[in-house]
Amino acid sequence: MRTVDWSEDGPAVVLLDQRALPQATEYLHLTTVDGVVDAIRTLAVRGAPNLGVAGAFGAALAAHLHAGDPTTARAETDRIAHARPTAVPLALGARRAIARLGEGPAAVLAEARAVLADGARVNAAATSRAADLLEAGGPGRPLRLLTLCNTGDLACGDGGSALGAALRLHERGTLAEVLACETRPLLQGARLTVWELARAGAPHRLCVDSAGPAALATGLVDAVVVGADRIAANGDVANKIGTYMLACAAARSGVPFLVVAPEETIDPVTPTGADIVVEERGADEVTGFGGITTTVPGTPVFNPAFDVTPFGLVTAIVTEERAWSPDVTTSRAAAPSRR
Ligand code: MRU
Repeated sequence: MRTVDWSEDGPAVVLLDQRALPQATEYLHLTTVDGVVDAIRTLAVRGAPNLGVAGAFGAALAAHLHAGDPTTARAETDRIAHARPTAVPLALGARRAIARLGEGPAAVLAEARAVLADGARVNAAATSRAADLLEAGGPGRPLRLLTLCNTGDLACGDGGSALGAALRLHERGTLAEVLACETRPLLQGARLTVWELARAGAPHRLCVDSAGPAALATGLVDAVVVGADRIAANGDVANKIGTYMLACAAARSGVPFLVVAPEETIDPVTPTGADIVVEERGADEVTGFGGITTTVPGTPVFNPAFDVTPFGLVTAIVTEERAWSPDVTTSRAAAPSRR
C-alpha cells in the first residue's frame, strides 16, 4: 500500500490520510509546503520512516514550487524537516532529497523516489532478521506478541518495522497472536495496527494500554515488539508514549523486548536518551475524543507523544544491518555510525 507518493498531474504530494482510517480511505493532494507541514503536524502522515518519505517528497514539492529560487526552496524544506522534532528520518529524508537541488527539481524528486525505494529494502531486511530472532528465542510454537502504536506499512512504507516482523511470522505460519495496545491518545494501535492486521488476516486482539503489563505478568506474551522514532548513540530508545511501561513490565516478567527500526533511526549526535527532544502535543488530544470532552473543561494536561526506554531494558535493537543488544553485538562489530 502506497501511503506517500508524488502526483503525476502536477507538483503535488499525495498522502493516504491516516486520520480518517479505518472509517474511510481518503487521499490528500498537497500542493503547498504549508499543506505538507500541516499534514505532518496533524498526523495525516506519521510513523518515523514514513515521515522520512514525506519529508523527501515535501522537499521535491518545495523544489518544484520555487524552481529558480534555491534559497526559498531550501528554507521551505527546512520548515518541513522541523515540522515534528522527535523522529530522526523526517529531517534525514528532507535533507537527502534537497541536497540534489543544484541538479534541478527533477533530481530532487528522483532522490525522494530513491528514499521510498530504499525504505522498502531496509524494511524487508530488518523484519526478516527480527522474525528469525523471535523464532530462535521463542518457545518452539507459534508466538504471541505484544505491540504498541503502529509500525506497519502505514508507518514505515512497504514492509513495516515491528508490525512487519509480526506479519513475517504470520506468513511463515509461526504467529499465534498479536496483542495490540490501543495507544492513547490518538489510537494508532486501535485504528491503524488493527486495520493492518485484519487486512493481512493475522490473528490479533486489541487491549487498552494499561492491560499490556498485566498480559506480560500473566504469561500471555512471548515477546514485545515495538518500533522507534529516535535511538540515542548509547541505545536508549524514544518511541510512542507507553513503551517504557511495557519495557519495565517485560523486564520484570523476563519477556524479550525487541525494537525493530531502520539503522538511520540511531542518531550518533544524540548521546543518550536524556538528550532526545520529546514532542509534547496539544491538550485537546487528552481532554476529549471524537469531539466529546471527557474531562473537566480547562483541565491542564501532560501529553508527551513519546517516552524513552533505557537500553538496559531492551533485549535487542534490530535493524537492516544487525541486532544490537546491551551485552552482545551481532552482524556488525562497530559502534553506531551514520552512513
Ligand atoms: O506520533 P506517531 O504516530 O508518528 O508515532 C510514531 C510512531 O509511529 C511510533 O512511535 C512507532 O512506534 C515508531 S515509528 C514506526
